[in-house]
Amino acid sequence: MLVVGAAGKTGRAMTAALSRRGVDVRAALRSPARAETAYAAGASSISVVDLESGLGLDEAVDGVDAVYHLAPNVHPDEVGIAERVASAAARAGVTRFAFHSVLHPDDTSMPHHVRKGRAETVVRELLPHATVLRPAAYHQNLVGAALSGRIAVPHSLDTPFTNVDLHDVAEVAAAVLTTPGHEGRAYDLAGPEQLTVREQAAVAAHVLGHPVVAEQLVPEAWAEGPGAALGEQSRADLLAMFTAYDRGGLVGDPAALTALLGRRPTTWAGVLTR
Ligand SMILES: NC(=O)c1ccc[n+]([C@@H]2O[C@H](COP(=O)([O-])OP(=O)(O)OC[C@H]3O[C@@H](n4cnc5c(N)ncnc54)[C@H](OP(=O)(O)O)[C@@H]3O)[C@@H](O)[C@H]2O)c1
Repeated sequence: MLVVGAAGKTGRAMTAALSRRGVDVRAALRSPARAETAYAAGASSISVVDLESGLGLDEAVDGVDAVYHLAPNVHPDEVGIAERVASAAARAGVTRFAFHSVLHPDDTSMPHHVRKGRAETVVRELLPHATVLRPAAYHQNLVGAALSGRIAVPHSLDTPFTNVDLHDVAEVAAAVLTTPGHEGRAYDLAGPEQLTVREQAAVAAHVLGHPVVAEQLVPEAWAEGPGAALGEQSRADLLAMFTAYDRGGLVGDPAALTALLGRRPTTWAGVLTR
């Protein structure tokens, strides 16, 4: 099976989950310099692709049974990338395809969510049997901050999130690619509890046994600090996301993830304990 974006945060988790199931994983990478990262996650071969031009995609999908497609985070050409990957898979006659979307791809207050929604449509037009996974924000986004004792975010500390464990997402993604019955389906993948960032800091302090403070950054300071390295479109996308998070956080229904896992999804405390 081919995992696109295999050297990234999600791609490594996907590669590991598939290889634990005995699947032979080909890692699609932007640069061969990332090969060791992909091999360490469990890939058995690599294929170099450029998602922006499509170069290398036909070779990457040649001979694979399935493709897991995830786009680089907040990429302005998410829809074009989805079209290039799905077209290559369709040309190669790939029978299983899963697309890593996002929770609430129809939320027009977040342009990168809307692009994910358009990408879902493009994928479905080319590959009607494709499965769509729509994860909430990952718990893993805040683990490093919790361990450091300071969770600083450029949005409200008091709106709710149903964050999800990336390992649970990868386990489900591996299952939908390796077992029948998920063709043409779309699943929201949300965690089992609603927590604000302030509550997440309190849980982290309890589990980790050291103080963890929650701090709200001014979005403008974020834009001039961590956000400064991003392209203009990606920075604007994330600023729009922070405004949406100020209004209502990001909340989904854990029912589909619970059913697919056959157990309660991992809690924030569970992720920190692990
Ligand atoms: N983080 C969350 O909470 C969350 C929640 C739901 C959905 N998602 C979605 O999950 C997806 C993956 O996120 P992530 O955090 O895992 O991303 P990531 O760590 O940035 O990984 C993206 C990968 O894509 C590769 N890449 C970038 N440009 C490329 C190109 N032109 N050609 C080929 N490969 C290229 C990168 O290569 P290099 O390794 O060389 O940089 C990287 O390995 C995103 O679409 C995001 O919207 C994330």
